[in-house]
Amino acid sequence: MRGRRLIWVAAVIGLLLVVAVTLPVFSTLQPDYYRRYPALVLRMDHWEISTHSRISCGECHVEPGVGGFLSFAARSIPAFYSQMVNGPDDTNLLQAPGRDACQSCHTSYRSVAPSGDLLIPHRAHVEVLDMECVACHEDLVHSLNARGFNRPEMETCLEQCHDGDAASNECADCHTRKQIPESHESDQWLTVHGTRAEAEDCGACHDWTPSYCAECHEERPASHIGNWKTDHAPHARIRGDGCLVCHGGQEFCDDCH
Ligand code: HEC
Ligand code: HEC
Ligand code: HEC
Ligand code: HEC
Ligand code: HEC
Ligand code: HEC
Ligand code: HEC
Ligand code: HEC
Repeated sequence: MRGRRLIWVAAVIGLLLVVAVTLPVFSTLQPDYYRRYPALVLRMDHWEISTHSRISCGECHVEPGVGGFLSFAARSIPAFYSQMVNGPDDTNLLQAPGRDACQSCHTSYRSVAPSGDLLIPHRAHVEVLDMECVACHEDLVHSLNARGFNRPEMETCLEQCHDGDAASNECADCHTRKQIPESHESDQWLTVHGTRAEAEDCGACHDWTPSYCAECHEERPASHIGNWKTDHAPHARIRGDGCLVCHGGQEFCDDCH
């Protein structure tokens, strides 16, 4: 009789232990669990409208394989009980995903973006340079880039590596369609480009290098030769306001006139 009761007690304790261990791990694998953390609300909202909204947190945030699962479990059990006792605080148990998680779904290495405009040799970056996916895809799920997409931004490339020194920043090395436009091929381009500035969208290409126009306009143009100080009259009559692009305001002219 006594032996049988002991077995029962042991079985119940064993069952409680199993529940005590599996409940936290199970709960923390449910996306809704993270709703209780105020610090994660924004991340959750973005996730719900991202391409990956059907992919649960764990598929990206738990490393694939037994080791990754056990390490997640070891973090999730104390976090679960601490949250019950102390309430949800800023701490969370998810870390930025490693590339093994991404590669459990994305196996091919793209080298051209779907738009066709962008050359992005994934194998070279991931395997040769040993980069993590999130180094570029940081806006994939929980935020949008400055242009409102879940895509990598040009700034990321240009600021982190492609500065023209560590790696090339030539437009044509990354873009197939944003090369020098036909208008620029004219011998007269440097003289006439200013007259086209209002008709065409120069900013689409040149806004990426903010001081591009201004820096050049600090240089003395070829037109200013000879006795320019007194002979500029005919140019000034034709160009009118064009002169002010480099010379700031009318005050420059008024100083002498
Ligand atoms: C498709 C993959 C993916 C899914 C699904 C995903 N995330 Fe993320 N998560 C990321 C990436 C990429 C980052 C790193 C960039 C960043 O900080 O936003 C990240 C970062 C985080 C971080 C910050 C980690 C740190 O310490 O840097 C938290 C917290 C987080 N995610 C929570 C969640 C929650 C909660 C869910 C489920 C509702 C979720 N994620 C679903 C990809 C994912
Ligand atoms: C569980 C599978 C799964 C995981 C894990 C996963 N993805 Fe995806 N990913 C998808 C699916 C499905 C799509 C949608 C494909 C489509 O609609 O054509 C997608 C789309 C994408 C896209 C294109 C859509 C977009 O929003 O720009 C990129 C880029 C991408 N994933 C990168 C990643 C990265 C980086 C990781 C790791 C942080 C990751 N994925 C993790 C399944 C996954
Ligand atoms: C060096 C930066 C960089 C790294 C590292 C990188 N990517 Fe990308 N990835 C890009 C760029 C840029 C695009 C093109 C985005 C676009 O279309 O505007 C892209 C596109 C993609 C796409 C296709 C998007 C679509 O709409 O179909 C997928 C999928 C993808 N990456 C997954 C990954 C995965 C998985 C990893 C890690 C193994 C990774 N990337 C690492 C920069 C990177
Ligand atoms: C190291 C690679 C790289 C270089 C060099 C580079 N770009 Fe980009 N560019 C990108 C990426 C990545 C994006 C983001 C793509 C997206 O939003 O789909 C982008 C986006 C753009 C866009 C806006 C997206 C669009 O389709 O309208 C323009 C315009 C652009 N680049 C022009 C240029 C010009 C001009 C140069 C040369 C001065 C240049 N890029 C050099 C990688 C590069
Ligand atoms: C390589 C140097 C250089 C760059 C880069 C440059 N400019 Fe100029 N810009 C000049 C020169 C030189 C003139 C004067 C031309 C002349 O008088 O022969 C000028 C003149 C102008 C004028 C006055 C036109 C007129 O009526 O005389 C405008 C407007 C102008 N540029 C706009 C722009 C814009 C917008 C950009 C950037 C997208 C730009 N420029 C980039 C060198 C440059
Ligand atoms: C499709 C992209 C694109 C557009 C749109 C564009 N440009 Fe450019 N532009 C370029 C590229 C690429 C270069 C060469 C960049 C370099 O050498 O760093 C360039 C160079 C220039 C130069 C310097 C030429 C030289 O001889 O040094 C001027 C000036 C210029 N652009 C003015 C303009 C003006 C003004 C507009 C609008 C009317 C315009 N661009 C529109 C891509 C563009
Ligand atoms: C591409 C920019 C640019 C444009 C366009 C431009 N200038 Fe200048 N200009 C300069 C620079 C740079 C100087 C030298 C300023 C200095 O040395 O402090 C200068 C100097 C001058 C001077 C001072 C005299 C001298 O020889 O130093 C006069 C006058 C002048 N410009 C008139 C004009 C007139 C008139 C026009 C229109 C026909 C014009 N500029 C268009 C850049 C420009
Ligand atoms: C360094 C002094 C100086 C500056 C700065 C200057 N000019 Fe002149 N400008 C002169 C002189 C000197 C003459 C020749 C006067 C003469 O021959 O009677 C002249 C003549 C002219 C003429 C023909 C005479 C007239 O009054 O119709 C025009 C037009 C003219 N300048 C426009 C400009 C414009 C536009 C600017 C500003 C972009 C400018 N100038 C800046 C000194 C200057």
